[in-house]
Amino acid sequence: MTQSPINWNRYRKLNPSERIEFLLSQNIITQTDLSNFIEKQLDISTANQIVENVLTTFSLPYSLVPNVLVDGKTYTLPFVTEEPSVVAAATYASSLIKRSGGFKTSRVGRLMTGQIALYNVTDFNKVCQLILSHKDKLLELANAAYPSIVKRGGGAKDLTVEQKDKFIICYLQVDTKEAMGANMMNTMLEALKLHLEELTSSKILMSILSNYSIGTLTTSECSIQLKYLSRDLDEAVEIAQKISLASDLAKVDVFRATTHNKGIFNGIDSLVIATGNDWRAIEAACHAYACHEDGKYQGLSTWTYNKTTNCLDGKLTLPMPIATKGGSIGINPTVQLSHKLLGDIPAITLASLIVSIGLAQNFAALKSLVTTGIQAGHMKLQAKSLAIIAGAEESEIHCLVGELLKSPTMNLEIAKKLLKNCRNK
Ligand code: HMG
Repeated sequence: MTQSPINWNRYRKLNPSERIEFLLSQNIITQTDLSNFIEKQLDISTANQIVENVLTTFSLPYSLVPNVLVDGKTYTLPFVTEEPSVVAAATYASSLIKRSGGFKTSRVGRLMTGQIALYNVTDFNKVCQLILSHKDKLLELANAAYPSIVKRGGGAKDLTVEQKDKFIICYLQVDTKEAMGANMMNTMLEALKLHLEELTSSKILMSILSNYSIGTLTTSECSIQLKYLSRDLDEAVEIAQKISLASDLAKVDVFRATTHNKGIFNGIDSLVIATGNDWRAIEAACHAYACHEDGKYQGLSTWTYNKTTNCLDGKLTLPMPIATKGGSIGINPTVQLSHKLLGDIPAITLASLIVSIGLAQNFAALKSLVTTGIQAGHMKLQAKSLAIIAGAEESEIHCLVGELLKSPTMNLEIAKKLLKNCRNK
Protein backbone atom coordinates (compact mmCIF):
# COMPACT_ATOMS: atom_id res chain seq x y z
CA MET A 1 0.00 0.00 0.00
CA THR A 2 1.51 3.36 -0.99
CA GLN A 3 1.13 5.82 1.86
CA SER A 4 -0.35 9.29 1.30
CA PRO A 5 1.43 11.91 3.46
CA ILE A 6 1.00 10.75 7.03
CA ASN A 7 2.47 12.48 10.02
CA TRP A 8 4.52 9.82 11.79
CA ASN A 9 6.22 12.25 14.20
CA ARG A 10 4.43 11.02 17.32
CA TYR A 11 4.41 7.33 16.40
CA ARG A 12 7.61 6.47 18.24
CA LYS A 13 6.38 8.13 21.43
CA LEU A 14 3.17 6.05 21.59
CA ASN A 15 2.79 2.69 23.34
CA PRO A 16 2.04 -0.41 21.21
CA SER A 17 -1.78 -0.22 21.71
CA GLU A 18 -1.78 3.48 20.82
CA ARG A 19 0.28 2.65 17.71
CA ILE A 20 -2.42 0.21 16.60
CA GLU A 21 -5.05 2.92 17.13
CA PHE A 22 -2.91 5.29 15.05
CA LEU A 23 -2.58 2.76 12.19
CA LEU A 24 -6.35 2.15 12.25
CA SER A 25 -7.11 5.88 12.28
CA GLN A 26 -4.84 6.43 9.27
CA ASN A 27 -6.39 3.45 7.40
CA ILE A 28 -2.97 1.80 7.23
CA ILE A 29 -4.55 -1.32 8.73
CA THR A 30 -8.19 -2.41 9.07
CA GLN A 31 -10.02 -4.15 11.92
CA THR A 32 -9.79 -7.34 9.83
CA ASP A 33 -5.99 -6.97 9.60
CA LEU A 34 -5.95 -6.52 13.35
CA SER A 35 -7.85 -9.75 14.04
CA ASN A 36 -6.34 -11.77 11.17
CA PHE A 37 -2.71 -10.77 11.41
CA ILE A 38 -1.80 -8.79 14.54
CA GLU A 39 -3.84 -10.60 17.19
CA LYS A 40 -3.27 -13.97 15.48
CA GLN A 41 0.28 -15.30 15.62
CA LEU A 42 1.71 -18.43 14.03
CA ASP A 43 -0.03 -21.28 15.87
CA ILE A 44 1.75 -24.39 17.03
CA SER A 45 -0.03 -26.86 14.72
CA THR A 46 0.81 -24.73 11.65
CA ALA A 47 4.39 -24.37 12.86
CA ASN A 48 4.54 -28.14 13.16
CA GLN A 49 3.58 -28.40 9.47
CA ILE A 50 6.37 -26.03 8.41
CA VAL A 51 9.43 -27.69 9.98
CA GLU A 52 10.33 -30.78 12.00
CA ASN A 53 10.47 -31.57 15.74
CA VAL A 54 8.55 -28.42 16.72
CA LEU A 55 8.33 -27.70 20.44
CA THR A 56 7.06 -24.11 20.52
CA THR A 57 7.25 -20.92 18.43
CA PHE A 58 9.79 -18.09 18.80
CA SER A 59 9.00 -14.37 18.96
CA LEU A 60 10.99 -11.25 18.06
CA PRO A 61 10.02 -7.56 18.14
CA TYR A 62 8.12 -6.39 15.04
CA SER A 63 8.49 -2.64 14.32
CA LEU A 64 7.66 -0.17 11.56
CA VAL A 65 10.05 2.14 9.71
CA PRO A 66 7.99 4.89 8.04
CA ASN A 67 8.90 7.43 5.36
CA VAL A 68 11.01 5.28 3.06
CA LEU A 69 10.82 7.00 -0.35
CA VAL A 70 11.86 4.68 -3.18
CA ASP A 71 11.35 5.49 -6.87
CA GLY A 72 8.82 8.19 -6.05
CA LYS A 73 6.64 6.14 -3.65
CA THR A 74 6.67 6.27 0.13
CA TYR A 75 6.58 2.96 1.99
CA THR A 76 6.29 1.86 5.59
CA LEU A 77 8.66 -1.04 6.17
CA PRO A 78 8.07 -3.86 8.64
CA PHE A 79 11.25 -4.58 10.62
CA VAL A 80 12.01 -7.67 12.70
CA THR A 81 15.14 -7.28 14.81
CA GLU A 82 16.34 -7.96 18.33
CA GLU A 83 19.00 -5.19 18.27
CA PRO A 84 18.29 -1.81 19.93
CA SER A 85 18.93 1.31 17.79
CA VAL A 86 18.54 -0.45 14.41
CA VAL A 87 14.92 0.72 13.94
CA ALA A 88 15.74 4.22 15.24
CA ALA A 89 18.71 4.51 12.88
CA ALA A 90 16.70 3.27 9.87
CA THR A 91 13.90 5.72 10.72
CA TYR A 92 16.35 8.59 11.09
CA ALA A 93 18.22 7.86 7.84
CA SER A 94 15.10 7.15 5.75
CA SER A 95 13.42 10.41 6.79
CA LEU A 96 16.59 12.38 6.04
CA ILE A 97 17.07 10.71 2.64
CA LYS A 98 13.40 11.29 1.82
CA ARG A 99 13.95 15.04 2.27
CA SER A 100 16.75 14.77 -0.32
CA GLY A 101 14.52 13.05 -2.92
CA GLY A 102 14.67 9.45 -1.69
CA PHE A 103 16.22 6.41 -3.35
CA LYS A 104 16.38 5.62 -7.07
CA THR A 105 16.74 1.96 -7.97
CA SER A 106 17.55 -0.20 -11.01
CA ARG A 107 18.15 -3.88 -11.68
CA VAL A 108 19.72 -6.27 -14.17
CA GLY A 109 16.72 -8.62 -14.12
CA ARG A 110 15.15 -11.40 -12.18
CA LEU A 111 17.01 -14.57 -13.18
CA MET A 112 18.05 -17.30 -10.74
CA THR A 113 20.97 -19.56 -11.60
CA GLY A 114 21.12 -23.33 -11.17
CA GLN A 115 24.09 -25.57 -11.85
CA ILE A 116 24.75 -29.13 -12.88
CA ALA A 117 28.31 -30.34 -12.29
CA LEU A 118 29.67 -33.14 -14.49
CA TYR A 119 32.82 -35.15 -13.75
CA ASN A 120 34.65 -38.06 -15.39
CA VAL A 121 34.82 -35.95 -18.53
CA THR A 122 37.30 -37.20 -21.13
CA ASP A 123 37.13 -34.53 -23.83
CA PHE A 124 36.16 -31.16 -22.31
CA ASN A 125 35.80 -29.20 -25.55
CA LYS A 126 33.70 -31.90 -27.17
CA VAL A 127 31.36 -32.16 -24.16
CA CYS A 128 30.91 -28.35 -23.99
CA GLN A 129 30.10 -28.19 -27.71
CA LEU A 130 27.72 -31.15 -27.45
CA ILE A 131 25.78 -29.55 -24.59
CA LEU A 132 25.58 -26.17 -26.35
CA SER A 133 24.36 -27.78 -29.59
CA HIS A 134 21.46 -29.30 -27.56
CA LYS A 135 20.67 -26.07 -25.71
CA ASP A 136 17.15 -25.59 -27.14
CA LYS A 137 16.20 -29.18 -26.36
CA LEU A 138 17.58 -28.89 -22.82
CA LEU A 139 15.66 -25.64 -22.18
CA GLU A 140 12.52 -27.33 -23.51
CA LEU A 141 13.03 -30.27 -21.13
CA ALA A 142 13.60 -27.92 -18.19
CA ASN A 143 10.40 -26.00 -18.94
CA ALA A 144 8.41 -29.20 -19.45
CA ALA A 145 9.42 -30.24 -15.92
CA TYR A 146 7.75 -27.11 -14.44
CA PRO A 147 5.02 -25.93 -16.83
CA SER A 148 3.20 -23.70 -14.32
CA ILE A 149 6.02 -21.13 -14.24
CA VAL A 150 6.04 -21.00 -18.05
CA LYS A 151 2.30 -20.21 -17.97
CA ARG A 152 3.11 -17.29 -15.63
CA GLY A 153 5.60 -15.90 -18.17
CA GLY A 154 8.71 -17.27 -16.46
CA GLY A 155 10.75 -20.44 -16.88
CA ALA A 156 14.17 -21.50 -18.18
CA LYS A 157 15.63 -18.75 -20.37
CA ASP A 158 19.26 -19.64 -21.01
CA LEU A 159 21.87 -22.34 -20.57
CA THR A 160 25.63 -21.86 -20.62
CA VAL A 161 28.49 -24.25 -20.02
CA GLU A 162 32.02 -23.83 -18.61
CA GLN A 163 34.98 -25.97 -17.72
CA LYS A 164 36.21 -25.37 -14.17
CA ASP A 165 39.20 -27.53 -13.24
CA LYS A 166 38.10 -31.18 -13.60
CA PHE A 167 34.42 -30.30 -13.90
CA ILE A 168 32.11 -29.22 -16.66
CA ILE A 169 29.37 -27.04 -15.23
CA CYS A 170 26.06 -26.27 -16.94
CA TYR A 171 24.44 -23.07 -15.69
CA LEU A 172 20.68 -22.78 -16.14
CA GLN A 173 19.07 -19.31 -15.93
CA VAL A 174 15.44 -19.33 -14.79
CA ASP A 175 12.97 -16.49 -14.41
CA THR A 176 11.25 -17.54 -11.19
CA LYS A 177 8.79 -14.60 -11.16
CA GLU A 178 7.46 -14.03 -7.61
CA ALA A 179 9.06 -17.13 -6.07
CA MET A 180 12.62 -17.52 -4.82
CA GLY A 181 12.44 -20.63 -6.95
CA ALA A 182 14.56 -23.25 -5.18
CA ASN A 183 12.01 -26.05 -5.72
CA MET A 184 11.29 -24.97 -9.27
CA MET A 185 14.97 -24.76 -10.17
CA ASN A 186 15.91 -28.05 -8.53
CA THR A 187 13.04 -29.85 -10.29
CA MET A 188 14.20 -28.47 -13.66
CA LEU A 189 17.84 -29.36 -13.02
CA GLU A 190 17.02 -32.89 -11.96
CA ALA A 191 14.93 -33.31 -15.11
CA LEU A 192 18.05 -32.57 -17.16
CA LYS A 193 20.36 -34.94 -15.29
CA LEU A 194 19.66 -38.20 -17.07
CA HIS A 195 19.60 -36.56 -20.46
CA LEU A 196 22.97 -34.86 -19.88
CA GLU A 197 24.60 -38.07 -18.66
CA GLU A 198 23.43 -39.93 -21.78
CA LEU A 199 24.41 -37.08 -24.07
CA THR A 200 27.93 -36.59 -22.70
CA SER A 201 28.79 -40.07 -21.36
CA SER A 202 29.96 -38.24 -18.22
CA LYS A 203 28.75 -38.51 -14.64
CA ILE A 204 26.71 -35.92 -12.75
CA LEU A 205 28.08 -35.02 -9.32
CA MET A 206 25.18 -32.79 -8.32
CA SER A 207 22.51 -30.45 -9.59
CA ILE A 208 21.31 -27.59 -7.39
CA LEU A 209 20.21 -23.96 -7.35
CA SER A 210 23.08 -21.53 -6.75
CA ASN A 211 22.60 -18.86 -4.12
CA TYR A 212 25.09 -16.68 -6.00
CA SER A 213 22.15 -15.01 -7.68
CA ILE A 214 23.80 -12.28 -9.73
CA GLY A 215 20.92 -12.38 -12.23
CA THR A 216 18.95 -10.47 -9.57
CA LEU A 217 21.46 -7.65 -8.98
CA THR A 218 19.61 -4.58 -7.70
CA THR A 219 21.11 -1.11 -7.22
CA SER A 220 19.87 1.65 -4.95
CA GLU A 221 21.29 5.19 -5.03
CA CYS A 222 20.66 8.37 -3.11
CA SER A 223 22.06 11.91 -3.01
CA ILE A 224 21.91 13.55 0.39
CA GLN A 225 21.96 17.33 0.42
CA LEU A 226 24.66 18.60 2.75
CA LYS A 227 22.26 20.87 4.68
CA TYR A 228 20.76 17.69 6.18
CA LEU A 229 24.11 16.57 7.58
CA SER A 230 24.61 19.69 9.65
CA ARG A 231 23.29 23.26 9.84
CA ASP A 232 26.93 24.40 9.74
CA LEU A 233 28.07 24.00 6.10
CA ASP A 234 31.75 23.51 6.97
CA GLU A 235 30.83 20.78 9.42
CA ALA A 236 28.50 19.20 6.82
CA VAL A 237 31.33 19.08 4.26
CA GLU A 238 33.60 17.48 6.85
CA ILE A 239 30.97 14.85 7.69
CA ALA A 240 30.43 14.06 3.98
CA GLN A 241 34.18 13.73 3.43
CA LYS A 242 34.53 11.47 6.46
CA ILE A 243 31.64 9.22 5.35
CA SER A 244 33.32 8.96 1.94
CA LEU A 245 36.60 8.03 3.67
CA ALA A 246 34.74 5.47 5.77
CA SER A 247 33.50 3.78 2.60
CA ASP A 248 37.07 3.82 1.19
CA LEU A 249 38.32 2.23 4.39
CA ALA A 250 35.80 -0.62 4.02
CA LYS A 251 37.19 -1.31 0.51
CA VAL A 252 40.74 -1.90 1.75
CA ASP A 253 40.49 -3.51 5.19
CA VAL A 254 38.60 -6.75 5.72
CA PHE A 255 38.16 -6.12 9.46
CA ARG A 256 36.32 -2.90 8.69
CA ALA A 257 34.54 -4.32 5.60
CA THR A 258 32.94 -7.08 7.69
CA THR A 259 31.55 -4.61 10.26
CA HIS A 260 30.54 -2.12 7.56
CA ASN A 261 28.54 -4.87 5.83
CA LYS A 262 27.09 -6.09 9.13
CA GLY A 263 25.66 -2.58 9.52
CA ILE A 264 24.06 -2.84 6.06
CA PHE A 265 22.53 -6.20 7.06
CA ASN A 266 21.02 -4.71 10.22
CA GLY A 267 18.46 -3.18 7.86
CA ILE A 268 18.36 -5.85 5.17
CA ASP A 269 17.81 -8.82 7.49
CA SER A 270 15.12 -6.96 9.44
CA LEU A 271 13.00 -6.55 6.30
CA VAL A 272 13.93 -9.93 4.82
CA ILE A 273 12.82 -11.74 8.00
CA ALA A 274 9.63 -9.65 8.30
CA THR A 275 8.64 -10.65 4.76
CA GLY A 276 9.20 -14.37 5.44
CA ASN A 277 12.22 -14.69 3.18
CA ASP A 278 15.26 -16.96 3.38
CA TRP A 279 17.80 -14.67 5.05
CA ARG A 280 20.58 -17.29 4.80
CA ALA A 281 20.24 -17.22 1.01
CA ILE A 282 20.35 -13.42 0.90
CA GLU A 283 23.34 -13.24 3.28
CA ALA A 284 25.26 -15.93 1.35
CA ALA A 285 24.61 -14.20 -1.99
CA CYS A 286 25.59 -10.74 -0.77
CA HIS A 287 28.71 -11.78 1.14
CA ALA A 288 29.93 -13.73 -1.91
CA TYR A 289 29.21 -10.62 -4.01
CA ALA A 290 31.36 -8.59 -1.59
CA CYS A 291 34.35 -10.43 -3.15
CA HIS A 292 33.33 -9.97 -6.78
CA GLU A 293 35.80 -7.23 -7.72
CA ASP A 294 39.16 -8.88 -7.19
CA GLY A 295 38.38 -11.83 -4.96
CA LYS A 296 38.90 -9.78 -1.77
CA TYR A 297 36.04 -9.19 0.65
CA GLN A 298 35.08 -5.49 0.54
CA GLY A 299 32.52 -3.06 1.89
CA LEU A 300 29.40 -3.34 -0.28
CA SER A 301 28.34 0.31 -0.37
CA THR A 302 30.09 3.36 -1.81
CA TRP A 303 29.73 6.92 -0.51
CA THR A 304 31.20 9.88 -2.38
CA TYR A 305 31.22 13.57 -1.58
CA ASN A 306 30.18 15.34 -4.79
CA LYS A 307 31.59 18.90 -4.72
CA THR A 308 29.66 19.97 -7.82
CA THR A 309 26.19 19.11 -6.51
CA ASN A 310 27.17 19.58 -2.86
CA CYS A 311 25.70 16.22 -2.04
CA LEU A 312 26.82 13.01 -0.41
CA ASP A 313 26.10 10.27 -2.99
CA GLY A 314 25.46 6.73 -1.82
CA LYS A 315 25.27 3.56 -3.90
CA LEU A 316 24.64 -0.08 -3.04
CA THR A 317 24.36 -3.00 -5.48
CA LEU A 318 23.40 -6.44 -4.22
CA PRO A 319 22.03 -9.75 -5.49
CA MET A 320 18.48 -9.87 -4.13
CA PRO A 321 16.78 -13.25 -4.71
CA ILE A 322 13.69 -12.24 -2.78
CA ALA A 323 10.19 -13.76 -2.96
CA THR A 324 6.64 -12.63 -2.37
CA LYS A 325 5.13 -16.10 -2.88
CA GLY A 326 6.03 -19.61 -1.76
CA GLY A 327 7.73 -21.06 1.33
CA SER A 328 6.01 -20.02 4.56
CA ILE A 329 5.03 -16.59 3.18
CA GLY A 330 1.34 -17.43 2.83
CA ILE A 331 1.19 -19.34 6.12
CA ASN A 332 2.59 -17.05 8.81
CA PRO A 333 0.00 -14.33 9.74
CA THR A 334 2.68 -11.77 10.72
CA VAL A 335 4.45 -12.26 7.39
CA GLN A 336 1.11 -11.74 5.63
CA LEU A 337 0.74 -8.47 7.57
CA SER A 338 4.15 -7.36 6.25
CA HIS A 339 3.15 -7.92 2.63
CA LYS A 340 -0.17 -6.16 3.26
CA LEU A 341 1.61 -3.13 4.80
CA LEU A 342 3.96 -2.97 1.83
CA GLY A 343 0.96 -2.95 -0.53
CA ASP A 344 1.42 -6.49 -1.92
CA ILE A 345 4.25 -5.26 -4.10
CA PRO A 346 6.01 -7.56 -6.61
CA ALA A 347 9.37 -9.19 -5.83
CA ILE A 348 11.37 -6.69 -7.90
CA THR A 349 9.94 -3.77 -5.90
CA LEU A 350 10.56 -5.57 -2.62
CA ALA A 351 14.17 -6.13 -3.74
CA SER A 352 14.50 -2.37 -4.36
CA LEU A 353 13.18 -1.56 -0.88
CA ILE A 354 15.53 -4.05 0.76
CA VAL A 355 18.65 -2.69 -0.95
CA SER A 356 17.54 0.89 -0.20
CA ILE A 357 17.05 0.25 3.50
CA GLY A 358 20.47 -1.43 3.60
CA LEU A 359 21.96 1.78 2.22
CA ALA A 360 19.98 3.92 4.71
CA GLN A 361 21.07 1.78 7.64
CA ASN A 362 24.70 2.01 6.50
CA PHE A 363 24.45 5.81 6.25
CA ALA A 364 23.11 6.11 9.82
CA ALA A 365 25.88 3.91 11.21
CA LEU A 366 28.65 5.72 9.29
CA LYS A 367 27.35 9.14 10.24
CA SER A 368 27.37 8.14 13.90
CA LEU A 369 30.81 6.57 13.62
CA VAL A 370 32.44 9.67 12.10
CA THR A 371 30.68 12.17 14.37
CA THR A 372 29.48 11.32 17.88
CA GLY A 373 30.71 7.72 17.86
CA ILE A 374 28.34 4.76 17.82
CA GLN A 375 27.89 4.58 21.58
CA ALA A 376 25.96 7.85 21.93
CA GLY A 377 22.86 6.74 19.98
CA HIS A 378 23.26 3.00 20.37
CA MET A 379 23.90 3.12 24.11
CA LYS A 380 20.87 5.35 24.72
CA LEU A 381 18.70 2.56 23.35
CA GLN A 382 20.91 -0.21 24.78
CA ALA A 383 20.39 1.38 28.20
CA LYS A 384 16.64 0.93 27.77
CA SER A 385 17.06 -2.80 27.09
CA LEU A 386 19.38 -3.13 30.08
CA ALA A 387 16.87 -1.29 32.28
CA ILE A 388 14.14 -3.78 31.34
CA ILE A 389 16.46 -6.78 31.93
CA ALA A 390 17.40 -5.31 35.33
CA GLY A 391 13.70 -5.44 36.26
CA ALA A 392 12.68 -1.78 35.88
CA GLU A 393 8.92 -1.17 35.70
CA GLU A 394 7.58 1.06 32.89
CA SER A 395 7.53 4.08 35.28
CA GLU A 396 11.14 3.43 36.38
CA ILE A 397 12.71 3.06 32.92
CA HIS A 398 13.19 6.80 32.31
CA CYS A 399 15.06 7.31 35.60
CA LEU A 400 17.23 4.21 35.18
CA VAL A 401 18.15 5.02 31.55
CA GLY A 402 19.23 8.51 32.68
CA GLU A 403 21.37 7.05 35.48
CA LEU A 404 22.91 4.43 33.19
CA LEU A 405 23.89 7.06 30.61
CA LYS A 406 25.65 9.07 33.31
CA SER A 407 27.51 5.98 34.54
CA PRO A 408 31.05 5.45 33.12
CA THR A 409 30.28 1.73 32.60
CA MET A 410 27.03 -0.01 31.75
CA ASN A 411 26.29 -3.60 32.72
CA LEU A 412 23.56 -5.60 34.43
CA GLU A 413 25.11 -5.40 37.90
CA ILE A 414 25.38 -1.60 37.67
CA ALA A 415 21.85 -1.39 36.25
CA LYS A 416 20.46 -3.31 39.24
CA LYS A 417 22.35 -1.07 41.67
CA LEU A 418 21.14 2.11 39.92
CA LEU A 419 17.58 0.77 39.88
CA LYS A 420 17.68 0.63 43.69
CA ASN A 421 18.79 4.30 43.72
CA CYS A 422 15.87 5.22 41.42
CA ARG A 423 13.45 3.40 43.73
CA ASN A 424 14.82 5.22 46.78
CA LYS A 425 14.49 8.68 45.21
P1 HMG B 1 20.02 11.06 17.81
O1 HMG B 1 20.24 12.20 16.91
O2 HMG B 1 20.84 10.89 19.03
O3 HMG B 1 18.54 10.93 18.31
O4 HMG B 1 20.11 9.73 16.92
P2 HMG B 1 17.30 11.87 18.29
O5 HMG B 1 16.54 11.49 19.52
O6 HMG B 1 17.65 13.31 18.06
O7 HMG B 1 16.47 11.35 17.00
C1 HMG B 1 16.81 11.65 15.67
C2 HMG B 1 15.88 10.83 14.76
O8 HMG B 1 16.18 9.44 14.89
C3 HMG B 1 14.40 10.93 15.14
O9 HMG B 1 13.83 12.05 14.53
C4 HMG B 1 13.85 9.63 14.55
O10 HMG B 1 13.68 9.75 13.16
C5 HMG B 1 14.97 8.68 14.85
P3 HMG B 1 12.53 12.73 15.24
O11 HMG B 1 11.44 11.71 15.24
O12 HMG B 1 12.96 13.10 16.63
O13 HMG B 1 12.26 13.92 14.37
N1 HMG B 1 14.78 8.04 16.17
C6 HMG B 1 13.88 7.09 16.45
N2 HMG B 1 12.98 6.46 15.67
C7 HMG B 1 12.22 5.51 16.25
N3 HMG B 1 12.32 5.14 17.54
C8 HMG B 1 13.23 5.75 18.35
C9 HMG B 1 14.05 6.76 17.80
N4 HMG B 1 15.03 7.52 18.29
C10 HMG B 1 15.47 8.30 17.29
N5 HMG B 1 13.31 5.39 19.63
C11 HMG B 1 20.12 7.44 16.39
C12 HMG B 1 19.86 8.48 17.46
C13 HMG B 1 19.98 6.07 17.04
C14 HMG B 1 19.10 7.57 15.28
C15 HMG B 1 21.56 7.68 15.80
O14 HMG B 1 22.47 7.76 16.85
C16 HMG B 1 22.00 6.59 14.87
O15 HMG B 1 21.58 6.51 13.75
N6 HMG B 1 22.91 5.71 15.34
C17 HMG B 1 23.36 4.54 14.60
C18 HMG B 1 22.84 3.35 15.31
C19 HMG B 1 23.16 2.06 14.63
O16 HMG B 1 23.67 1.97 13.55
N7 HMG B 1 22.83 1.00 15.32
C20 HMG B 1 23.02 -0.34 14.88
C21 HMG B 1 23.75 -1.11 15.93
S1 HMG B 1 25.47 -0.81 15.82
C22 HMG B 1 25.91 -1.95 14.62
O17 HMG B 1 25.51 -3.06 14.71
C23 HMG B 1 26.51 -1.59 13.31
C24 HMG B 1 27.83 -0.89 13.19
O18 HMG B 1 28.89 -1.55 13.82
C25 HMG B 1 28.04 -0.83 11.69
C26 HMG B 1 29.28 -0.14 11.27
O19 HMG B 1 30.26 -0.16 12.03
O20 HMG B 1 29.27 0.39 10.12
C27 HMG B 1 27.73 0.49 13.76
